[in-house]
Amino acid sequence: MPPNFKLQCHFILIFLMALRGESRYLELQETAEYDPFLLFSANLKRDLAGEQPYHRALRCLDMLSLPGQFTFTADRPQLHCAAFFIAEPEEFISIHYDLVSIDCEGGDFLKVFDGWILKGEKFPSSQDHPLPTTERYIDFCESGLSRRSIRSSQNVAMIFFRVHEPGNGFTLTIKTDPNLFPCNVISQTPNGRFTLVVPHQHRNCSFSIIYPVVIKISDLTLGRLHGVQSKKPPAGCGGIGDFVELLGGTGLDPSKMMPLADLCYPFHGAAQVKIGCDNTVVRMVSSGKQVNRVTFEYRQLEPFELENQNGNSIPEFCLSNL
Ligand SMILES: *[C@@H]1O[C@H](CO)[C@@H](O)[C@H](O)[C@H]1NC(C)=O
Repeated sequence: MPPNFKLQCHFILIFLMALRGESRYLELQETAEYDPFLLFSANLKRDLAGEQPYHRALRCLDMLSLPGQFTFTADRPQLHCAAFFIAEPEEFISIHYDLVSIDCEGGDFLKVFDGWILKGEKFPSSQDHPLPTTERYIDFCESGLSRRSIRSSQNVAMIFFRVHEPGNGFTLTIKTDPNLFPCNVISQTPNGRFTLVVPHQHRNCSFSIIYPVVIKISDLTLGRLHGVQSKKPPAGCGGIGDFVELLGGTGLDPSKMMPLADLCYPFHGAAQVKIGCDNTVVRMVSSGKQVNRVTFEYRQLEPFELENQNGNSIPEFCLSNL
């Protein structure tokens, strides 16, 4: 199964369960594979490269990982709708309203959110996002077409909408733009490799993987070159200077996740950690005084790895409570 499709299954299911107030969604993960909402796969992306822009209908609950033009038309009053957009880590998403036919006075709405929200948890967290939370919502019913194109600050964005009158709806075009220094990212895939670079910026960046994973950090540079570090690092990070933290948890918001490990001195090698949490985040805290860089790779844990304590020296987190 293509990884994107798997992500959609996993994520849409979490969303459905969240809507129903169900917290033990993981047990039902496999049933998501039959979810009728999910009709497209990552293969489409390859098939469509260089052809006409992709066009399809948008469903009341949807997830999109490819650019194109999407039309929502209500066939009955649809009051609780949301569509999640995800691009590659090195991309911003831009959402353009081609046509909007909704009745704002009658209680309809169409809002873009700069990031994802699930069960009240935001990604990026309000601490890591460059804009205050209220500015991350762009409400069509307030701004109209004066903000016809909206660009996200990272590789994820979403829309919320409500349409009462059958036949009403909207058409959007989703495009992506390159992001030279991706800061906050949700991984589309359960396996991968990434280098997070924060170049002289006073900001914090989170890379989120919404799967249980083994993560291997192979390189960490905090403003200095490898091997020129003279002093032995003090025990623990002590909350001073720039550092990288590993977080684990069940929700989307990195600021609500459990700190699992801090890395505050440069190294080159391989630090491996097994994290059985639903969500794993690599977060870099930067003062802006230097260039920071961390490289890591991750692989989804197999079901048997979630049960077995491996007995060797790899640190493990969130495994006993699954
Ligand atoms: C980055 O995070 C640290 C610790 O989590 C916090 O003290 C600092 O204020 C944050 N910096 C910015 C720019 O948000």
